[in-house]
Amino acid sequence: MPAESVTVRVPAKVNLQLAVGPPRADGYHEIATVFHAVALFDDVTAREGTGITLSIEGEGAGELPADAGNLAWRAASLLAAHAGIEPAVRLHLRKSIPIAGGMAGGSADAAGALLACDGLWQLGTPRDELDRLAAELGSDVPFALHGGTAIGTGRGERLTPVLSSGSFHWVFALADGGLSTPAVYAECDRLRAGMSIPNPYVSDILMQALRAGDPILLGKALNNDLQQAALSLRPSLKAVLSFADDLGALGGIVSGSGPTCAFIVRDEAQAIDLAVALSASGLCRTVKTATSPAQGARFIAS
Ligand code: C5P
Repeated sequence: MPAESVTVRVPAKVNLQLAVGPPRADGYHEIATVFHAVALFDDVTAREGTGITLSIEGEGAGELPADAGNLAWRAASLLAAHAGIEPAVRLHLRKSIPIAGGMAGGSADAAGALLACDGLWQLGTPRDELDRLAAELGSDVPFALHGGTAIGTGRGERLTPVLSSGSFHWVFALADGGLSTPAVYAECDRLRAGMSIPNPYVSDILMQALRAGDPILLGKALNNDLQQAALSLRPSLKAVLSFADDLGALGGIVSGSGPTCAFIVRDEAQAIDLAVALSASGLCRTVKTATSPAQGARFIAS
C-alpha cells in the first residue's frame, strides 16, 4: 500500500564560520564553512496528487512562488526525473524559517521535498544519490538533509561531520525583507577588490569550542566573511548586533548572507530576556529562540 501522506521536518542552519575565498570561474566562491542546524523547522508534506502542486503556510507564505520557481517544486521534479517516473504529488510547506534570511529556508524545503517524495513514491533512493540531487538543487541543500554540525567545503556542498558536545541556546533577530545571496557575494567581491584573498580554512578555536560544548568560546569564535557585505547592503543591522552585544550576548553574527542576525547566549533564561528586549527595541521584524544542534531532515507523523 503506498503511503497517502508523508511529512518531513527540516532544520534551519546558521554558519558558525563562513570563510569565503576568491570567486571561481563558475561564479561560485570556494568556501570553508561550519554549518550548524538549529531547532527552527519547516515541515514538508507530500500527498498523492496529479502532476506537482504546491501550497504554503507560515513565514513568507504570500511572497514565495508556488510553482517551478520554488526549490521544493524543483526537488520533486528532479527526483521524479532521476527515478524515471512522472511526478505526482501535492506538496505543502509549513514554514517557520524566514525566507531569504540567510538560514537556508529554501534549501530546507528542497531537502524536505526530496525526502518526502522519496517516501511517498516509495523509491528508496540511496543516500548518496539523494545527496547528489541535493547538491544539484543548491549549495546548502545537502546540509539540510544532514543536520547536526558539519564542515562544508567546495561551494558548501561537500560535507564532513563535526562532533560537538552539549547544546547551545540562540536568539534570532529576523529583519523586514530578505537579502539576495548572489547580491551579498557580489558585494563581498566589490569590498575586497584589489585585495589578495587567502584560501578559506576552518578555525581551530571554533572546533575546540564545539568539542568542549563551550558557548563562551563559541561566541568568541563566530565569524562570517559575508557579514561586512550584508552590513554594507543593510546598514540597519549594525544596531541590531550592537544592541545584543550591549545586553551581554556571548556572540553575535549575521547568519549566512543575512539579514537574520544570530546571537548565542548562556541559557534559556538569557535567551528569553534577549528576545523580549529585541522585540521591544523595534530594531527587527520579529524574534525567535532555538536550541542547537538539531537533527537533519527526518520523517515525522503527518
Ligand atoms: O547554490 P545556490 O543556488 O544556493 O547559490 C546561490 C548563489 O549564491 C550562487 O548563484 C552564487 O551567486 C552564490 N554563491 C557563491 N558561492 C557559494 C555559494 C553560493 O558565490 N559557495
